[in-house]
Amino acid sequence: ARIVEHTFIVQNLTLNRLCNRQVITAVNGSFPGPTFRVRERDTLIVHVFNKSPYNLTIHWHGIFQILSGWADGPNMVTQCPIRPGNKYTYKFKIIKQEGTLWWHAHASALRATVYGALIIRPRTGHSYPFPKPYREVPILLGEWWNANIIDVQNEALALGRGPNVSDAYTLNGWPGDLYPCSGSQMYKLKVVQGKTYLLRIINAALDNQLFYQIANHKMTVVAVDACYTKPYVTDVVVIAPGQTVDVLLTADQSIGSYYMAARAYASAFGVVPFDTTTTRGVIDYDGAPSSTTPVMPVLPAFNDTPTAHKFYSNLTSLVHGPHWDPVPLKVDHKMFVTIGLALQVCPSNTTCQGPINGTKLSAAMNNASFVSPTGLSMLQAFFFKVGGVYTTDFPAKPPVQLDYTNASINNNLPLLFAPKGTKVTKLKFNSTVEMVLQNTAIIGVENHPMHLHGFDFHVLAQGFGNYNPATDTNKFNLYDPQMRNTIAVPVGGWAVIRFVANNPGVWFMHCHLDAHLSIGLATAFVVENGPTLATTLPPPPADLPQC
Ligand code: C2O
Repeated sequence: ARIVEHTFIVQNLTLNRLCNRQVITAVNGSFPGPTFRVRERDTLIVHVFNKSPYNLTIHWHGIFQILSGWADGPNMVTQCPIRPGNKYTYKFKIIKQEGTLWWHAHASALRATVYGALIIRPRTGHSYPFPKPYREVPILLGEWWNANIIDVQNEALALGRGPNVSDAYTLNGWPGDLYPCSGSQMYKLKVVQGKTYLLRIINAALDNQLFYQIANHKMTVVAVDACYTKPYVTDVVVIAPGQTVDVLLTADQSIGSYYMAARAYASAFGVVPFDTTTTRGVIDYDGAPSSTTPVMPVLPAFNDTPTAHKFYSNLTSLVHGPHWDPVPLKVDHKMFVTIGLALQVCPSNTTCQGPINGTKLSAAMNNASFVSPTGLSMLQAFFFKVGGVYTTDFPAKPPVQLDYTNASINNNLPLLFAPKGTKVTKLKFNSTVEMVLQNTAIIGVENHPMHLHGFDFHVLAQGFGNYNPATDTNKFNLYDPQMRNTIAVPVGGWAVIRFVANNPGVWFMHCHLDAHLSIGLATAFVVENGPTLATTLPPPPADLPQC
């Protein structure tokens, strides 16, 4: 195992995209930011210098952070932000996980441009549970705004409506040739006929799930969210913000050029506006004449939920593969958690553009709309036993039972106006949590990608409508369910997850659509220390930012 040390200089960068010059915040002058290539059991040390004008934190999405919660990164959850002009060093060891993860800013909407790939290969002497690919290729999908993203978000929050949609999707930072002024710098991948490539696909978009497809080629999924899957052959990859998908791609077609393309899977089709554009890059076979017009894939329709659900629900884990964990069978803590949009009353004498007059858009889990504390981060409050930062009364079930998927704004529901708070669930070390995530339809219905920090979970089952314990527990896959850190809960439906809380600290859980996180679709788990020093969270590093 090695120590891998990097420096992040985070500062403004001017880029030309879509015929515009735009100032963004970026790491080390590159967009997307640097790709980390490490091995399991390596220790990563990243010195982050904040030379941007914004408060900043960096999150290592999907990393377990075993006994290193101080390096997890969500703003005000595990640390106060790194103020402009200051620095912080993130240090953590990568234990029992390999595959594709990523890093991103976790303060305001900065992650729109502050992100990059984090690739974990097996440690020396170990190999992939599939034939060694000829080459490995990160594919980072993102969103682009012809505006300052912090302004876009602040405007939305002030007016109490959803944020303006993006102006483009990007593939490794480039929109591609369907956009103005963009064609010549589209992402190009050169392949050799007959060779197999490992594409490490990451959805770093703020607010959109995506379909990704390559003309004439099938892909074999071998991992999701850095958990190996049973090989699954597909024409299309469906990927929600926060998720990763590793696929094997064999260049088995005739020598030529083929587009890879991505565009929205819009589960709130017709209700919520979304970016309807398409990003694309090109795969050029070695020896293809440069005059070839690439073949374009036929992407699924924007609202093709059957295709999305088929992909999301057909994946299974590679039983007995590296780092595979059997499903915990004994459950200590059962939760039923509604997730969805809600409303806030508009503060007087402001004009709000919420769904009904005098309201702001909000979002909640079990009728609790999350607000970040100020003054002290939740992890500091946990470690130093400071009261008043969060409350441990996050409800294990909703305050009322409803027909959640038929509930609507018009029925004047008890879940319509969600009180704000910083409510968490306290867990004993090593307890097993089972959580039913139930989407509501109160303000429109949508697929919410729910991300848990600090742990991977098993996805036991998912479906549409209201979860019914009498019949749906029969659908649990307790043998080889996929493991993930981000679950796209089906539109107007539910998913059941299980995880073992074997890491002390404060672990954020939230919708990975930034538009929803920013209005409260979040909660956290506070996992108590275990009985020994080896199961106790160490004190914070000396340079932990103070508020
Ligand atoms: Cu990828 Cu809390 O985030």
